[in-house]
Amino acid sequence: MANTPIKLNDGNAIPWLGFGTGTALYKKDAERMVAAAIKAGFTHLDGAQVYQNEDSLGAGIIVSGKPRSELFVTTKLYSLQPGQTVRESLQGSLKKLKLDYVDLFLIHTPLEHVGKLREVWKQFEEVKTEGLAKSIGVSNFHEEELDVILPGSEIPAINQIEYHPYLVAETATLLDFHKKHGIVTASFGGLSPLFRFPGGPVDPIVAAAAERLSKASGKNISTSHVLLLWQKQRGIVTITTTSKESRLPEYLSIADEPGLTLEELKAIDEAGASSPHRHFMRSVPATEKRVRD
Ligand SMILES: NC(=O)c1ccc[n+]([C@@H]2O[C@H](COP(=O)([O-])OP(=O)(O)OC[C@H]3O[C@@H](n4cnc5c(N)ncnc54)[C@H](OP(=O)(O)O)[C@@H]3O)[C@@H](O)[C@H]2O)c1
Repeated sequence: MANTPIKLNDGNAIPWLGFGTGTALYKKDAERMVAAAIKAGFTHLDGAQVYQNEDSLGAGIIVSGKPRSELFVTTKLYSLQPGQTVRESLQGSLKKLKLDYVDLFLIHTPLEHVGKLREVWKQFEEVKTEGLAKSIGVSNFHEEELDVILPGSEIPAINQIEYHPYLVAETATLLDFHKKHGIVTASFGGLSPLFRFPGGPVDPIVAAAAERLSKASGKNISTSHVLLLWQKQRGIVTITTTSKESRLPEYLSIADEPGLTLEELKAIDEAGASSPHRHFMRSVPATEKRVRD
């Protein structure tokens, strides 16, 4: 099953592969694609307030007919209005989503809460205690920001970050930090090497692995398939998306295929590390300007 669950530090579990309503569906009506994704087999849906389509994510869930208990739904807090609490903000999201709770609630970016990270995280703990969010976590956090919220607090279940082979070197210490504290790494932008930075050193290695796997399985294994496998075998929760229904079965077939060899995994890591670059949040301020807590 592509939706192999990954255990979280709070005892809950998250399906490995998630369908996102940002990027390709950002600020768009997501109802049709969400319903199609669920019908195709996705059970993990990744939304956010800033995508401005929580309403249609909720509508897609209803149209799919899938029982709520069989779905894992995430949303993310963006900014808070002056005087607004995290609880009020989450309740606004739940109303749009037409849900009583989310499975995962994330702080979308620390940059919207500079100087208030601990206070916001304490409020996250409260909405979890109330049952409005089954698990709580963060996104786009560096070690320094995790250090601000960790002492005396519930450990975030997840840190959702941009992750692909070209970020292997840059994120190595962060991933070690996650491991040490039992934080699961979730990724977005995983297909970037192929479609956002084509022609780099990762491409020929991924292409050779796709060819080997195609021969071994007798199926047409694509290069995007190989990159998703690379994340899966690394134990990274993977959020992808598409604006095209035709790609859904391919994404979901990942776990049915034979895996990458240790040599292939290592060669992809090494090629990625030789040419670091990122697509999202390229202009984030230096750490000292991010924390100030
Ligand atoms: N926490 C954050 O700050 C953050 C930031 C970014 C994203 N996210 C989440 O992560 C989700 C996925 O992000 P992502 O878009 O970066 O994921 P991705 O997996 O890197 O890219 C998905 C895109 O790859 C394209 N693609 C797949 N196969 C392809 C092929 N064979 N040829 C050409 N294009 C192909 C798809 O285009 P088509 O649409 O044409 O199929 C799709 O839009 C978002 O929707 C959002 O939920 C979170």
